[in-house]
Amino acid sequence: MYNSKISGLGYYVPDNIVTNNDLSKIMDTTDEWIQERTGIKERRWIDPKTDDTTSTMAVKASKIAIERSGLKKNDIDFIIFATLSPDMYFPGGGVRVQDMLEMPTIGALDVRNQCSGFVYALSVADQFIKTGMYKNILVIGSENHSGGLDKSTRGRGVTVIFGDGAGAAVLSRCEQKGKGILSSHLYSEGKHARELMMDGPHTGRWIPEILKENDPNDESYYPYMNGPFVFKHAVTRFSEAIVDGLEANNLKSENIDVLIPHQANLRIAQFIQRKFKLSDDKVYNNIMNYGNTTAASIIIALTEAWEKGKIKENDLVVLAAFGAGFTWGSVIIRW
Ligand code: UT7
Repeated sequence: MYNSKISGLGYYVPDNIVTNNDLSKIMDTTDEWIQERTGIKERRWIDPKTDDTTSTMAVKASKIAIERSGLKKNDIDFIIFATLSPDMYFPGGGVRVQDMLEMPTIGALDVRNQCSGFVYALSVADQFIKTGMYKNILVIGSENHSGGLDKSTRGRGVTVIFGDGAGAAVLSRCEQKGKGILSSHLYSEGKHARELMMDGPHTGRWIPEILKENDPNDESYYPYMNGPFVFKHAVTRFSEAIVDGLEANNLKSENIDVLIPHQANLRIAQFIQRKFKLSDDKVYNNIMNYGNTTAASIIIALTEAWEKGKIKENDLVVLAAFGAGFTWGSVIIRW
């Protein structure tokens, strides 16, 4: 069996900055409320006048990741694309990237695991490389939330949290033992699906029915989140996924060099930091600047941390995520 290691990283966020004060002009919210409850100061939302979409942002991030890996796009064997907001209802984003990057007819797989999408995608890529089936896989997380949020006061509990952006990693075969991805740990508990979801349209209530009902109060096509319920589960499941990952590798929390938590809420990340007694320099957060970018959040944070020199050779890097489904998981990496 082979190992896999990250050979290139890249991210792209739209230029358009939306501050908390900007939001307070379109809905009943305040900078104080948002910062106190979430830590978010601003986020990027696609300016509809630009060509940014979930897939074009993914392409921009992917080009950087491929270039940094030292590979050419034709060296990539497979694409895994994590998103809850593809450009079209179907097909997904992977095939769009294959086309826009003018790649050979390699396979492209979409992962729909929301906030833990990137952790799931990286784990799937790792399995393909371990078995020897592929050598280099492009793993993407990209989201266009702003196109589908309720920007009235009714949606404020969700809308102020989410931002747009994309990140990409090239995962490559590595023949050095003890390097790269050491293990990944994936979980789900579908009984909580309705606590964080977008209900419609779905095959039991398709678009003609929604149009026929013509209900101005229909919220089914906006994301819904039972915030306090999700928060409570997030802190527990984040911790469990990290503990499972460490134990599987006979490691302890003091061995962690860098923790990249999914950027759901700064308060959740701080809770995890305190629980594992990690100093500030060992946890990387950027939710202040980008909000929650769901499947893109971990890969954007990982790339930024790496660009800032916070991740060094041989560091133990832990990625952990929790989100809709519920799904959660961790990936343990020896850099
Ligand atoms: O990424 C996937 C995983 N997601 C998460 O892990 C998110 C977990 N949950 C959270 O981060 C938090 O629950 C939120 C940030 C979403 C909400 O914070 P909270 O402290 O749990 O607030 P709440 O939902 O209990 O709402 C408290 C009050 C309510 O008013 P009343 O009923 O007390 O009068 C809300 O209507 O805050 C009100 N509120 C707002 N006020 C101003 C909700 N959203 C806003 C807002 N601005 N944007």
